Amino acid sequence: MPAFVQGKTILLIVGGGIAAFKALELVRELGRAGARVLPVLTENGARFVTPLSLSALAGEKVRTSLWDLEDEAAMGHIQLSRAADLVVVCPATASLLARAAAGMADDMATTLLLATDKPVLMVPAMNVRMWLHAATQRNIATLRSDGITVVQPDDGAMACGEFGPGRLPELPKIMAAIAAQFGSKPLLGRHALVTAGPTHEPIDPVRFIGNHSSGKQGFAIAAALAHLGARVTLVAGPVHLPTPAGVTRVDVMTARDMAAACEAALPADIAVMVAAVADWRAETAPQKLKKDSSAPAPLVLTENPDILAGIGHHAQRPALVVGFAAETHDLIPHAAAKRNRKGADWIVANDVTDGVFGSDSNHVHLLTATGAEDWGAQAKQAVATSLAQRIAAHFAGHP
Ligand code: CTP
Repeated sequence: MPAFVQGKTILLIVGGGIAAFKALELVRELGRAGARVLPVLTENGARFVTPLSLSALAGEKVRTSLWDLEDEAAMGHIQLSRAADLVVVCPATASLLARAAAGMADDMATTLLLATDKPVLMVPAMNVRMWLHAATQRNIATLRSDGITVVQPDDGAMACGEFGPGRLPELPKIMAAIAAQFGSKPLLGRHALVTAGPTHEPIDPVRFIGNHSSGKQGFAIAAALAHLGARVTLVAGPVHLPTPAGVTRVDVMTARDMAAACEAALPADIAVMVAAVADWRAETAPQKLKKDSSAPAPLVLTENPDILAGIGHHAQRPALVVGFAAETHDLIPHAAAKRNRKGADWIVANDVTDGVFGSDSNHVHLLTATGAEDWGAQAKQAVATSLAQRIAAHFAGHP
């Protein structure tokens, strides 16, 4: 039983979407874990679940209106907005996200969101087109920059018959997101190996073959995994980034150094290979190549070891192996092929034509055994948090 919510009070706002019935399961799960749930049902939420079922499961009175004199006399809505340790909106509909992003206070739910001084976690669920609409994505970006955590919805078949991102995440993922809010450490006792940055393959003592990888995404993932309690070994190529708190860093230069450092870091439970490893190395000249020689020296290239494939097929293979795929075209088929070839469980695929190198945002798709999920454009930090939470949810229930 997750102990992180034991004795905590959670204000749960249930919005008006078909996924509202799943909020009932969340109430039950939170109750089992020892939390007190104060339920709030929007007017439209009440079209999908009854106040009675919500109240029966929570063992609390359900608030629906700002204008109930009895409720206001018992505990005013401003007081209610501050009585909880955490405010969770589940499901957060497109309309609720929009009104919250605009700072509106036109019903009980939005008024509470505006009045609260507590952390807020939004768990969206809506039709795929509504989720992908520029207005919704803009609202989510606003909410995130206001400090609100917006959980990435799941991908799959929807009640409306369409397919894509927008489904309410599965319960373990919601619980992992709530756990993260309470600084819980669901990955305690797990060892995660993360690679990040480029590798440099020397041509001579002053020149090298390299690439534009900044290391930001890998460092953010190492930090997010450490935040959830994992012991993290970060094998970093040459980058100028500070070491995240609680992370053990091993600095390397070449692909072969990186492969050796990864081998030395095993055993691990989790491997997340984010590094942009140089695919080839040159024969290194012992002295600086001079341009006064008769012709430019041709580079003799040798293929580097594939570190991800080595880990994916290793005798000590981590239980969960995650690779990245940097592509400029045919993103999903290429990433799916890499997933198979390299023995990875998941591939985080990104289109690097979007100017991802060095930037702070990243548009990724997550490929698993069951398909591809479009995570939309997000800050690299948010991609890292979502991935770490997803990893925690994967391990939830695994011994
Ligand atoms: N990778 C690795 N070792 C290599 C090359 C890549 O561990 N020598 C890992 C990366 O860290 C990433 C994944 O493999 O997790 C895919 O990297 P990517 O550069 O997209 O693919 P490549 O294998 O280099 O294939 P290609 O260049 O043909 O796209």
